[in-house]
Amino acid sequence: MQTEIIKIDRENIDKEALKHAGEVIKNGGLAAFPTETVYGLGGDAKNPESSKKIYAAKGRPSDNPLIVHIADFEDIKKISKNLPDLAKKLSDAFWPGPLTMIVEKNDVIPYETTGGLDTVAVRLPSDEVARELIRASGGFVAAPSANTSGRPSPTKAWHVIEDMDGKIDVIIDSGRSLLGLESTIVDLTVKDPVILRPGFITESMIRKVCEGVSTDPGIIAADSNVKPKAPGMKYRHYAPSAPVAVIEGEEVLVTEKIKSLISDARTKGQKVGILCATENENLYDADFIIALGCKDDEAELAGNLFDAMRRFDHEDIDVIYSEGFSREELGAALMNRLLKAAGHTVIKV
Ligand code: TXA
Ligand code: MG
Repeated sequence: MQTEIIKIDRENIDKEALKHAGEVIKNGGLAAFPTETVYGLGGDAKNPESSKKIYAAKGRPSDNPLIVHIADFEDIKKISKNLPDLAKKLSDAFWPGPLTMIVEKNDVIPYETTGGLDTVAVRLPSDEVARELIRASGGFVAAPSANTSGRPSPTKAWHVIEDMDGKIDVIIDSGRSLLGLESTIVDLTVKDPVILRPGFITESMIRKVCEGVSTDPGIIAADSNVKPKAPGMKYRHYAPSAPVAVIEGEEVLVTEKIKSLISDARTKGQKVGILCATENENLYDADFIIALGCKDDEAELAGNLFDAMRRFDHEDIDVIYSEGFSREELGAALMNRLLKAAGHTVIKV
């Protein structure tokens, strides 16, 4: 299949071009598009055949449900039932934006889209290009992150091209995603809402709207017996090809430990990659060093993580050592992704 690449300038959105991409989706095709979190791989959420194509293009297990993207709050009512009042409150506080709500689905959304579940994940992105495309596609776009299953989520159009060229109809290129980390997922089908995946909308932000919110223990547990509730969170994920180990502890001990790991690996002839805070990048003598951002700037650190993971793959690195970062607030989302990429290999010092 020839994939059409369409450049859309966010400052001057070409609505005709998005109309064309919308027609592709309406006709059962697939179009990757930017959102403020990561790029999504979009198909018509009401069309079971489109969802099957999404799973095939990603190589994703079909029990892992897709998020339905809408452009107007009222549209959530058209695909759900027993919608709790909390959905409106959360929407008022955080939509459009990087929050996904799980609610009960109705018959409009086929089981192919929800991986066989009776619930559906719904998100209203803030990215203007995304919203314009959703409207042009009929209002309900199923979209997982536009990466091959298991690879880091795409935060730039070339990441999507790397994974999806030749497999889908259209890729819309609008440069880099503003945030660079997938949305927070909150389950509203239980009595007190539960965060199934941490993201930019943090637990403490949601608590201001709903006191009873908590975070699913399965997503932070290193113990594989504690299973996460979002099906997608159970797979090894976000990972570069090389093994990753995270070194956590007091900062001086961490940097010393990483230095000694580098020299051990090098005596074995291994090519070493390092992920660290900008403040520490000059401390290490490794083959490929990526400074994610300043250590107190979790938004910057989180926003650069997936791009860094892909860059390691291009450098044929044998082993990657990463500094640990704060797990507070947005740090919870960053460390969730990093620890998953590391398969929970943590060295405590
Ligand atoms: O920021 C995002 O959310 C991006 C952009 C494209 O919107 N999308 C995204 O989709 O990250 P995906 O498919 O890569 O991740 C969706 C996650 C998976 O872990 C999936 O298991 C979970 O959401 N999920 C979807 N529907 C669910 C449901 N009904 N119940 C529980 N978990 C669900
Ligand atoms: Mg994903």
